[in-house]
Amino acid sequence: MTDLVVRRLLVDMEAPVARHWCGGDAFRTALFNALSMSFPVGEQFFIDSVRNGFKALPAERQERFRAEVQGFVGQEATHRRLHGLFNTHLERLGLVNDWAPRAAQRLKLLEGLDPRHALGITAANEHFTAIMADWMLRHPDMVGSDDARLSTLWLWHSAEESEHKSTAFDLYQALGGNEEWRVRWFRRVTMIFLADTLRQTVDNLRRDGTLWRWATWKSAARSLFGRRGLVRQTFRPWRAYLRADFHPSLQDSGLSQRWLADHSDRFTPVASPA
Ligand SMILES: [Fe+2]
Ligand SMILES: [Fe+2]
Repeated sequence: MTDLVVRRLLVDMEAPVARHWCGGDAFRTALFNALSMSFPVGEQFFIDSVRNGFKALPAERQERFRAEVQGFVGQEATHRRLHGLFNTHLERLGLVNDWAPRAAQRLKLLEGLDPRHALGITAANEHFTAIMADWMLRHPDMVGSDDARLSTLWLWHSAEESEHKSTAFDLYQALGGNEEWRVRWFRRVTMIFLADTLRQTVDNLRRDGTLWRWATWKSAARSLFGRRGLVRQTFRPWRAYLRADFHPSLQDSGLSQRWLADHSDRFTPVASPA
């Protein structure tokens, strides 16, 4: 069981966001903006999946998960609220979120299905967020430092993703979710997630007027496939999920703990919602 603290972030998300807030880099700004656009809908889905999975457990097995589920829900609810505020700045900058309505439409297909499907999808997405979080914490300069609020927002979110990476996975297993579907959903989530990320990033760049700049493509190559690149560094941990003996806790969370310990002045702990 994991002890999950819900934290109130001490940043002002009302103040406007610069067009290329991520170190002046148009590509990485567009990529992270795309991810942020998916969070309010995605994280609400994770909350609902975990809550429904918890309710589906027999009463005598719920106790073990109760506090962890409350912590998970509190953390994700805080993330989606702050990214919702961040996303309103993106709208003002002329960006259009096509990802969220598309995802919401797709999620309707899951209504009425066994709750283990939604949990399997959530566990797969949580693996994605955990490995990206770890990458971000390893290379904090990738989120830029021009706006301290925003680097705090992304690194705090990363640290908490790493903290709660086992919750959906453990519930899936506690409900008897099988290996075959776990891996099947992971493969599907990978395809859908990569396609949606690419599509929204390209659209953000197009609306920003930077899609066809040489610097954008150069940054894309370096930020994704360079020595410290996202794709290059997350491929191995991505593949680990396919192993039969995989468990999220096998992947190191040291960077998350360190960031939270070193930046305790940026947040205050709050009680979990019941
Ligand atoms: Fe989150
Ligand atoms: Fe999460």
